[in-house]
Amino acid sequence: MVRNLFITFEGPEGAGKTSVLKAIVERLENEHIEFLSTREPGGIEIAEKIREIILNPEHTAMDAHTEALLYASARSQHFYEKVEPALQSGKLVLCDRFIDSSLVYQGIGRGLGIEKVRAINEFAIGTRMPDKTILFDLEPAIGLARIEANRQNEINRLDVESLAFHEKVRNGYLQLAVEDPNRIILIDANRPLKEVAEEAWLIVKSLIEEK
Ligand code: TYD
Repeated sequence: MVRNLFITFEGPEGAGKTSVLKAIVERLENEHIEFLSTREPGGIEIAEKIREIILNPEHTAMDAHTEALLYASARSQHFYEKVEPALQSGKLVLCDRFIDSSLVYQGIGRGLGIEKVRAINEFAIGTRMPDKTILFDLEPAIGLARIEANRQNEINRLDVESLAFHEKVRNGYLQLAVEDPNRIILIDANRPLKEVAEEAWLIVKSLIEEK
């Protein structure tokens, strides 16, 4: 049994992490490995409601501080209601986005500063960080073009931000990866989904085997 392993998936828009996560879920099911797969913002009823408020494209008046606090609120509820109990019961937990998203989207993209955003998140969830984070790196122009090509997917308030905003987000992620190389594993997402998914699966598999 995998004990207490918490892996998060991060990356800029259109990097394909959600599709990769789906592929990994299938592999885990085939191998009969017990796990919990979830996402942020959301993952449970209260946090999904907060998600609707944050991502509604009509909420253009939302202040960056409000946005950061709402993400932290959704994270807190999701963490204590779902993630922490699953980890406590010994499960492998895979989460599509987590605290790094706030550090880069709100801290750097919105310019609130990484340390301020880290502080409200420590209030929200304490100091628990993921054991490993897989970062799907991609040039924002390519990611946004992928989103444009898949218009049937939900378009949210952050997708429609400027290219400059998304460049800041991407550089923020790369900065975090340099600062925390033991936790953050970078994958080049500018390749066919199948290749990216295979690389991510090999990482997840080796983390499970190491545990
Ligand atoms: P989602 O549709 O889940 O996007 P993606 O498929 O790219 O993960 O929407 C989540 C959006 O919220 C995405 O634009 C990133 C943003 N976000 C933040 O800005 N801060 C956060 O803390 C989190 C969790 C997400």
